[in-house]
Amino acid sequence: MEFSKVVEQRTSVRSFTSEPVPEDILREMVRIAGMAPCIGGIEVWKFVAITNRDLIEKMAHAVKAKYDEILPKNDERITESVRSSVEMFSSIFTKAPAVIAVLAEPYTAIIDKVLSQTSHSHSDINKLRNYPDIQTMGAAIGNLLLAATDLGYGACWQTGAMVAKEELSKLIGIKEPFSLIAFVAVGKPDSEVMPRMKKPVEEIFSVIQ
Ligand SMILES: Cc1cc2nc3c(=O)[nH]c(=O)nc-3n(C[C@H](O)[C@H](O)[C@H](O)COP(=O)(O)O)c2cc1C
Repeated sequence: MEFSKVVEQRTSVRSFTSEPVPEDILREMVRIAGMAPCIGGIEVWKFVAITNRDLIEKMAHAVKAKYDEILPKNDERITESVRSSVEMFSSIFTKAPAVIAVLAEPYTAIIDKVLSQTSHSHSDINKLRNYPDIQTMGAAIGNLLLAATDLGYGACWQTGAMVAKEELSKLIGIKEPFSLIAFVAVGKPDSEVMPRMKKPVEEIFSVIQ
């Protein structure tokens, strides 16, 4: 598909058919994700595709249990509609035939090597530079979503589930130095995909001459 068409058609898909996503399709999505720009040219990412229903169910339970803990039912400040909307948006992955777990390992840039001899830690430097590690992962996930669209699939970026990052990492078997950044739920959309209206370019663009 033409690049601009892919970009215009991409939208978050949150409802899927049960049709499995073939492994070679998942691999192609990840190949395109891995073409993204990355801090210092260091490709810190890894992608684990999960299609095992039992595991996805366990992951769903872990997320639900975490939200039950952080949004307790006896807290009157949290309305039922807020609770159910948070839980709904955090559990999209459970309804997808494939979930791609996006992992990253820490990077070391040239500046780290210099500044680590001073009082700056890696995380100080990372913060000062506006989290290039997370920005890198955002670029890769953006590519992944566009690749899914181009290949005729729907996808949804998922960070709501990350509240249970520790439990999910254990279930998925993520080992240091890698950490879990996000999920991308993937599958065939179960209804017609209607891209969201976005702000007009006039509203988001300016030039300083
Ligand atoms: C960093 C990030 C995290 C997101 N996490 C979730 C999530 O946990 N659950 C969800 O349903 N959508 C999630 N989304 C999707 C956004 O809600 C969606 O991109 C936004 O509403 C714009 O809609 P569009 O993707 O259709 O253009 C996330 C998007 C981004 C960029």
